[in-house]
Amino acid sequence: MSDKQEQEYADEPTDDPTTDDMRIETDVSESVASPGATMSTNTVVRAENVDVWYNDEQALQDISLDIPENQVTAMIGPSGCGKSTFLRCINRMNDLIDAARVEGDLYLRGKNVYDDDVDPVALRRRVGMVFQSPNPFPKSIYDNVAYGLKIQNKEGDYDEIVEDSLKRAALWDEVNDRLDESGLELSGGQQQRLCIARAIAPDPEVLLMDEPASALDPVATSQIEDLISELAEEYTVVIVTHNMQQAARISNKTAVFLTGGELVEFNDTEKIFENPESQRVEDYITGKFG
Ligand SMILES: Nc1ncnc2c1ncn2[C@@H]1O[C@H](COP(=O)(O)OP(=O)(O)O)[C@@H](O)[C@H]1O
Ligand SMILES: [Mg+2]
Repeated sequence: MSDKQEQEYADEPTDDPTTDDMRIETDVSESVASPGATMSTNTVVRAENVDVWYNDEQALQDISLDIPENQVTAMIGPSGCGKSTFLRCINRMNDLIDAARVEGDLYLRGKNVYDDDVDPVALRRRVGMVFQSPNPFPKSIYDNVAYGLKIQNKEGDYDEIVEDSLKRAALWDEVNDRLDESGLELSGGQQQRLCIARAIAPDPEVLLMDEPASALDPVATSQIEDLISELAEEYTVVIVTHNMQQAARISNKTAVFLTGGELVEFNDTEKIFENPESQRVEDYITGKFG
């Protein structure tokens, strides 16, 4: 897509080619068999037979699952089982990795995000991401949060959006008197909440979080966990964690990936941790391996 087209895309969100198909697909979604899908909720992200390779190495095998709206879906499993790879399929971040090849279908509200007419930049505005290590830009707290709005030339009252995003990220009270200070001056936990504020400022529909608390101390971790539960009231949250207790505490649904890039079980979190179907999942969550 050319720069000009991209600009048009940014200026006119109503041009978004996804809307019509999306509704149709969302309506039929309940009738399609899917492990663990809750019948009463809408599917926001659907993976169908997704395979990913890095060169000749297969990282994900035949992944199918439905991610429900306004819930926290956790991805757990041992290191190297493809959790981050799966997250990056959803917002096409794997496009940025030359060796990566994605096959199968990945839908955001019924629209295949790999269709030719989908602009990955526009997609990433609808699907925000927070990474393992807090990575604020070397800019002021204010500019960090306003960053996405500025590059999109988004209209609106930036002061209001920055304040609102910082409030939603549970950081406002700690920084409202020093918005001009560098984001890098903040503590690790504050930096991660700043990154969350930056990710939600453009008002995405889905928030992907790749081990967002694994670099933080226990107090900061607990703040992030509380925050994630609150965020799910407004966003569909998909979180990778290798901390099983964390998944059990904060998620509604849990997907268990195991070595080889296989999705072994996907179900309500309670069911996964209390009475999993699969012996391999039982062994994993009881610590027999992994
Ligand atoms: N950029 C990359 N290039 C090549 N191989 C990669 C790349 N990223 C991940 N992999 C490989 O893909 C597999 C899954 O990795 P990843 O998705 O990072 O797993 P997880 O997040 O569960 O630890 C691993 O074998 C890893 O080595
Ligand atoms: Mg990872």
